[in-house]
Amino acid sequence: MIRTLTGRDREQAVALWEATGLTRPWNDPRADFQRAIDSPASAVLGWCEDEAVLGTAMVGDDGHRGWVYYVAVAPSRQGQGLGRVLMEACEEWLRQRGAPKIQFMVRTSNEAVVAFYARLGYEAQDCLVLGRRLDA
Ligand SMILES: CC(C)(COP(=O)(O)OP(=O)(O)OC[C@H]1O[C@@H](n2cnc3c(N)ncnc32)[C@H](O)[C@@H]1OP(=O)(O)O)[C@@H](O)C(=O)NCCC(=O)NCCS
Repeated sequence: MIRTLTGRDREQAVALWEATGLTRPWNDPRADFQRAIDSPASAVLGWCEDEAVLGTAMVGDDGHRGWVYYVAVAPSRQGQGLGRVLMEACEEWLRQRGAPKIQFMVRTSNEAVVAFYARLGYEAQDCLVLGRRLDA
C-alpha cells in the first residue's frame, strides 16, 4: 500500500496537504513536492489504495540527518494506523541510506499532534530551530 509517489500523484498529494491544514501561503506545495521527488536524496511516500493517495510523508537525507515533512492522512482515514505506517516507512527509507537519526519540525500551532508522535517513540529535542528564507 505504500509506494514512492511520482509527478502523477502531485495534485492528490497537494489536495491532501490542503485538506489537513499543512499548507501555508508562503510555501508553494507543488514546488515542494516536485523538488522532493526530483532529488535522489528525498522522496514523497504515499499510502495509496488503487489510484487514491490517502496519506503522505516527505522524507529526505541531508547528508547528516533524516528529515520528515508533510505527514498527512486523509481525515476520513485518520485513527486507523496509517500515520504510524507512514512514519515507519520514513524510518526504513532513512535506515537504508545509513542516516543515524530522524527528526522533524512541528509548528507550535499544531502542538496537539505531538501526542501522536509520542506514541511512536518520538520526543522533543532540546534545541531551537532558526531559519531565514533564501528566495526573498
Ligand atoms: C497526525 C496524523 C498524521 C496521524 O495519523 P493517523 O493515521 O490518524 O495516526 P495513527 O492512526 O497511525 O495513530 C498512531 C498512534 O497515535 C495515536 N494518535 C493519533 N493521533 C493522535 C492524537 N491526536 N493524539 C493522541 N494520540 C494520537 C493513535 O491512537 C495511535 O496509537 P496506538 O498505535 O498506540 O493505538 C493525522 O492525524 C493527520 O494527518 N493530521 C493532520 C496533519 C498533521 O497535523 N500532520 C502532522 C504535521 S507535523
